[in-house]
Amino acid sequence: MSHPAAAPKRSGRAPWTLRRRLVLTVVGLLALVSIVIGAVSVAILRGSLVDRLDVQLASAAGRSGSVIGGDGDNDNRGFFIAPTADAILRGPAQPPGLLALVFDGSTITTGYTDNESGAIRTLEPRQVQLLADHIKQSTPVTVDLEGSLGQYRVVAETSRTGTLYLVGLPLSGVNSTATQLAAIIAFVSLAGILLVAALAAWIVRFALRPLQRVTETASRVASLPLDRGEVSLVDRVPEADTDARTEVGRVGLALNRMLDHVDLALETRQASERKVRQFVSDASHELRTPLASIRGYSELTRRSGQELPPDAMHALGRIESESIRMTGLVEDLLLLARLDEGRELELEPVDLTRLLVDAVSDAHAAGRDHVWNLDLPEDPIQAIGDPARLHQVLANLLANARVHTPAGTTVTVALAAENDRAIVTVRDDGPGIPEELQTTLFERFARGDTSRSRDSSRGGTGSTGLGLAIVQAVVVALHGDVTVSSEPGRTEFRVSLPLA
Ligand SMILES: Nc1ncnc2c1ncn2[C@@H]1O[C@H](COP(=O)(O)OP(=O)(O)OP(=O)(O)O)[C@@H](O)[C@H]1O
Ligand SMILES: [Mg+2]
Repeated sequence: MSHPAAAPKRSGRAPWTLRRRLVLTVVGLLALVSIVIGAVSVAILRGSLVDRLDVQLASAAGRSGSVIGGDGDNDNRGFFIAPTADAILRGPAQPPGLLALVFDGSTITTGYTDNESGAIRTLEPRQVQLLADHIKQSTPVTVDLEGSLGQYRVVAETSRTGTLYLVGLPLSGVNSTATQLAAIIAFVSLAGILLVAALAAWIVRFALRPLQRVTETASRVASLPLDRGEVSLVDRVPEADTDARTEVGRVGLALNRMLDHVDLALETRQASERKVRQFVSDASHELRTPLASIRGYSELTRRSGQELPPDAMHALGRIESESIRMTGLVEDLLLLARLDEGRELELEPVDLTRLLVDAVSDAHAAGRDHVWNLDLPEDPIQAIGDPARLHQVLANLLANARVHTPAGTTVTVALAAENDRAIVTVRDDGPGIPEELQTTLFERFARGDTSRSRDSSRGGTGSTGLGLAIVQAVVVALHGDVTVSSEPGRTEFRVSLPLA
């Protein structure tokens, strides 16, 4: 069974994290609110400043009317004052920066007091034209006079003597106050936004920490090999992160419930596996005694010296050989059951060189039709393992190389030390293992079709498909591993074991 995959790799631009999204949303909303508040404040301030300017303008217009209308002081002194812009600007108590335009029916006179020097200057024709458009304006309006003069608030009146005149006051003061306020608001907002961004980033990180812990628990559990062996799921999301009143708490709680559930299921599976293993182990154990009796009695009868018909002799021989085969099968099953139970093998230094020499000479004796080669290093190599089981591993591999290949096949057994591992390879130049069998080769009762037909009753070897399962179970229990590579003409089993 394959292990659950790690997080799948995704292509394209990385999406925004929740943290980044939350922080940017807060910052964006705050910026929006700041802009609205700033804009409204500046507009209100400017409006009220313009209103005040309009009041000043109205009184300046009143005074101007008196000057050119022949009222008041001038009149009393008996002067005649020509209705000109200059007269208005030189009139009493006029505010600085005042602008005036007078149309006495035939000529237009204009002028304004320079804010800095106080001198009176005339307007350019283009500016006069701009003002003349508003000569009928009885309520204050804003006119842009362009150039250095800028915006003015102007209002037109008619004097008592019927002279049309227009006065204006500069908006520059109002505008600069409004600009200043806008700058201050922008600066304060920016500082506030930066502060809020930093705080939000910190708070969101803090708030998402429980989620991080839940993720860590899930990842730890996900990395456990749950598909085999005895595993208990003790890992849980910490109590503090399982408060159902919070969103993250609900996730944590759900994960813990799921883990409880999976743990229970695992326990049930393990219990049933244990039972099956126990049954196989007990059954094989119980079968040994009757099998030994069958074998003993048939052998005894065969050798009793009494005259038996040839048929009976043959049957007795078959009973004996089959009981021997069955004993081997039962022993294999018992060994597998015990390895499954995780019963410790004896771990001691084993001289692999000796072991190989013995195993190959046994194989040579059993398979005279094959060519046996042994490739040993100069120095003896010792591995950590159980001598009897390791002998069985080699015997199984050599038996396969003998049984599943035709006569004349060359089998080469080699030993080498690589890093801290001892490597044993069993290679033959036989027909190879069918590809579809290779994936399940080390599973119990997995065998090739040709092996299946080799029924011992028909004089075959009585292949059961347990040999390689035992090889793998033993090697894994000894903290080693076994791999196979096979193609027609070259089949190689490679066993690696920890060096002594
Ligand atoms: N060297 C080899 N060359 C060709 N086929 C092989 C070789 N070794 C194993 N096989 C194939 O792999 C199958 C499984 O081998 P395994 O040793 O597990 O079982 P078996 O030899 O059939 O039975 P058992 O070993 O239990 O008597 C064999 O049936 C055979 O088809
Ligand atoms: Mg075999």
